[in-house]
Amino acid sequence: MTSGFPRPPDSGRVHLWRGRAPTEVDHADLAVLAAAEQARFRAMVPTAGARYARSRSAVRRILGGYLEEPPESLALDRMACPGCGSAEHGPPILVHPHSQLTFSLSRSADNWLLAVSAGRLIGVDLEDAAAVDLDLVPPMVMAPAELDAFRSLPDDRERRQLFLRAWTRKEAVLKAAGIGLVAPLREIDVQPAVDGPVRVAHSSLSGAPAWTVQDVATGSADMAALAWQADLPPAEISWPEMAGWQEVAGRVS
Ligand SMILES: CC(C)(COP(=O)(O)OP(=O)(O)OC[C@H]1O[C@@H](n2cnc3c(N)ncnc32)[C@H](O)[C@@H]1OP(=O)(O)O)[C@@H](O)C(=O)NCCC(=O)NCCS
Repeated sequence: MTSGFPRPPDSGRVHLWRGRAPTEVDHADLAVLAAAEQARFRAMVPTAGARYARSRSAVRRILGGYLEEPPESLALDRMACPGCGSAEHGPPILVHPHSQLTFSLSRSADNWLLAVSAGRLIGVDLEDAAAVDLDLVPPMVMAPAELDAFRSLPDDRERRQLFLRAWTRKEAVLKAAGIGLVAPLREIDVQPAVDGPVRVAHSSLSGAPAWTVQDVATGSADMAALAWQADLPPAEISWPEMAGWQEVAGRVS
């Protein structure tokens, strides 16, 4: 395992890791995936498969780095969905080795973003600034107050930014809650006109009763947000730096 790996975050910290994926699969990524992940990779078109393999192998390398275990030895699974109990679409979980680590992964185009904490539910979302139909989509997913703020803006550039901020915050909250995007999005107000962090409560969400969500600066054109349980103290958010980072994030070919 890479030397100099950061110590794992405790419950007062969230570590954020990011990286890029190659356009063609790197067989070093595939080699650390479990059989089920490799099967999922094979069912994907090549570019999506390369992105999936890179991001999943990064999850394994990073969690394995914290725990001083080989990436291929980790057992990852899904928690029961808090909405219906199904293990098919619940949030991801590290099963082996046993630890308090929690994590959330997001992919957007060739970028991925991973949040890792301990003993707290977290959710992260990353979106590129790809074209969104600003007439069609916002009314379907934004709460009335969000839509008022959106429509009060003078131009499409600002409206797109506000929409992306609202979207990433909602998805981060719904990933932290483990329910995903089946929740009634128009009932969840994430206050996109406010810089944040903001507190988000919604009765349809199971698990914690309220969530704190804040924007995350990724250093690229992407928009990203991180959410965590509001009943726990704020966490210190950091981007760990380490020697040999490319051995973890993988090189972009
Ligand atoms: C969770 C969800 C929003 C992620 O959307 P996406 O477009 O794949 O977006 P991202 O790239 O940001 O996230 C992908 C990661 O989210 C995580 N994820 C998947 N389901 C999740 C859930 N329920 N909660 C939290 N995280 C989840 C996984 O780690 C996934 O990575 P993987 O494909 O390598 O396993 C989307 O899959 C969703 O809404 N699923 C619906 C869940 C559902 O059916 N719920 C029914 C309730 S009854």
